[in-house]
Amino acid sequence: MYNLLRNILFLFDAEKVHYFSMNILKAICKISFIKWIIHNIYKAEYPVKAMGIEFSNLVGLGAGFDKNAKYLTELETLGFGFVEIGTVTPKPQEGNQKPRLFRLLQDKALINRMGFNNEGAEIISNRLSNWRKNNPKSKLIIGGNIGKNKSTPNEDAWKDYESCFIALYNHVDYFVVNVSSPNTPGLRALQEKESLKQIFKVLQNINPKKKSILLKIAPDLSNDQINDIIDLWREIQLDGLIVSNTTIDRNNLKTSKIEIEKIGIGGLSGLPILEKSTELVNYIHIQTEGNLFMIGSGGIFTAQHASDKINSGATLIQVWTGFIYEGPAIVKNIIRALKN
Ligand SMILES: Cc1cc2nc3c(=O)[nH]c(=O)nc-3n(C[C@H](O)[C@H](O)[C@H](O)COP(=O)(O)O)c2cc1C
Repeated sequence: MYNLLRNILFLFDAEKVHYFSMNILKAICKISFIKWIIHNIYKAEYPVKAMGIEFSNLVGLGAGFDKNAKYLTELETLGFGFVEIGTVTPKPQEGNQKPRLFRLLQDKALINRMGFNNEGAEIISNRLSNWRKNNPKSKLIIGGNIGKNKSTPNEDAWKDYESCFIALYNHVDYFVVNVSSPNTPGLRALQEKESLKQIFKVLQNINPKKKSILLKIAPDLSNDQINDIIDLWREIQLDGLIVSNTTIDRNNLKTSKIEIEKIGIGGLSGLPILEKSTELVNYIHIQTEGNLFMIGSGGIFTAQHASDKINSGATLIQVWTGFIYEGPAIVKNIIRALKN
């Protein structure tokens, strides 16, 4: 059923289809009886405790899908245990010129260069506050993924992370410092140890409720950079990592080189990054003797992919590209298989 719908949706521009589909789902979910039916079809209970928080299941939606926290009710209805909103920046941003999201059908992948398009911390914080008020019984866990504005120089980046952290503090359950998107020029340079130390020290000092602050890393880091991050974890007690963001690597793709060149720069996600990101989880798990909490992200389409991440050391997982290709039953299918 979803295959047919997907074939039709894939005929149109990827970004337009994204908002079209979510707005249709939003309209449908306004009818409580239909929402109840959808929830009963897709609900997936498999409670797990992580970061001191109770999750109804371990499958989350990765950052960048619901950047502005507009579709939380609908995503909860589809069974997600958690949704990571953002990346949120202090000021609103348009992001890069369109088109900026592309499908690589043969590779079951996407390339995006969205560029942190979002409505800014203040609007998103107000929206989250209202959502919490209107949904007091919701068990959905919300992560706040934070970044810097394009116009902010790297030496002042910590100020952007600080202001997003303060704005979202009362409305999200955990935070993610995103320094690994390839679509904000210079951002990935913040993955260096000293820059990270500065950002994390600032945030740790204004965290009265001791909410977990995770770091999201790129799959393209050198061994030295990964080892630096592990050192940093020991030094300043990082609460955990999200492994990983999209890659800038274009090797081993089935899509023709001409097509890839035509698409241009951006982060590649989906099946081609599965192995690399799972290996990275595994490497970090071994180096830290299983003591560093990780959320596995990258190329998860099936329950097998999910359990590979978990067996490699991830406690929770996130899907994004797999949700687009596999459809709304992805959470339920993964949880059902993991339970057996
Ligand atoms: C269109 C698009 C936008 C994204 N935007 C963000 C973002 O704003 N912040 C972020 O941390 N990750 C972002 N990501 C990365 C995803 O959260 C995820 O880590 C990555 O796509 C790997 O997972 P996947 O292979 O399951 O898609 C984005 C991914 C896509 C495809």
